[in-house]
Amino acid sequence: MISTSFQTNELANYRLSIAPMMDCTDKHFRVLMRQITKKSLLYTEMIVANALHYSKNRNKLLDFDEIEHPISIQLGGDNPQLLAEAAQMAEDWGYDEINLNVGCPSPKVKSGNFGACLMGKPKIVASCIENMKKSCNIPITVKHRLGIDNLDNDDYLMKFVDHCSIAGADRFIVHARKAWLNGLNPKENRTIPPLEYERVEKLKNNRPELIIELNGGINTINDCIKTLKVFDGAMVGRAVYSHPFMWRKVDSMIYGQEEEYLSRSKIIKKIIPFAQKHLENEGRLWQISKHILNLVENIPNAKILRQELSEKSQTKEADVSILKNLAQQLEDAGQ
Ligand SMILES: Cc1cc2nc3c(=O)[nH]c(=O)nc-3n(C[C@H](O)[C@H](O)[C@H](O)COP(=O)(O)O)c2cc1C
Repeated sequence: MISTSFQTNELANYRLSIAPMMDCTDKHFRVLMRQITKKSLLYTEMIVANALHYSKNRNKLLDFDEIEHPISIQLGGDNPQLLAEAAQMAEDWGYDEINLNVGCPSPKVKSGNFGACLMGKPKIVASCIENMKKSCNIPITVKHRLGIDNLDNDDYLMKFVDHCSIAGADRFIVHARKAWLNGLNPKENRTIPPLEYERVEKLKNNRPELIIELNGGINTINDCIKTLKVFDGAMVGRAVYSHPFMWRKVDSMIYGQEEEYLSRSKIIKKIIPFAQKHLENEGRLWQISKHILNLVENIPNAKILRQELSEKSQTKEADVSILKNLAQQLEDAGQ
């Protein structure tokens, strides 16, 4: 159990957040990102409320490191009671916020009646939010799409947001494209439906009192700065995962902090104690190294260094000496 909760301002308005991404934003990636930005909000991968209820290994599902604050747990589900229970667990565990996933279009999630298909059931979503609000005292936010299938006009979107807002949602993160639940797979649903920022802007203009963040296709810090002229926050997913080092100036450029930027070698050195602890708890180095691969790009010999890291980290005996060597090689190369 995390003992000291990081107290954020109740309706904290994070200017930049790193999107929840299954198989990407696990705690190892989040610890890596925390070396790069101290201020941005981090999200867990989606955790299904049902799984939390029935799991014998709840601690593993909820686990995060103290340095990850501020951190939001993303929950999936459509059962108000189970979500309320999960929200309470998340608050007790020390999370700063809870986010409800109303954007995932995967067939598996759809067959469980949650994720993006809930955009078609605003009353259920409202009931989930209401119940979660009653069960905890941390912000409840909603991540959703512009619409699904044929339910994607501006009036429908506004009514959906109104339902959530009346139920008590504290912030909205809008992935600025619709999802087709039949016919497109999740990856296609992140590329084929066009981005329609102007529709999110219209929503913000019609509901200026709501905290509305934009998500989808934001690729650089300058994109974020432009986004923040119109919206209350920018959420970035793939561009952060694929190019983590590109975001090292976030705290100074977006949050106005006078931070020293860490070099690649220093970032890796800072991760070594976490890696050591992970190995002592029977974890594998590869679970950490796979995220570090993307840190090693746009420098001489990047391909060779990545290949070496990948091959060595996947052996059974892999230990932190591999990371120490990589950090040294990078330092010697002025990185
Ligand atoms: C590999 C992957 C996994 C994702 N998993 C989730 C998820 O668990 N929950 C969620 O709300 N969105 C998920 N998303 C969607 C992202 O959070 C984000 O909305 C989407 O990638 C658009 O933002 P981007 O253009 O900045 O990447 C995932 C995206 C990717 C690429």
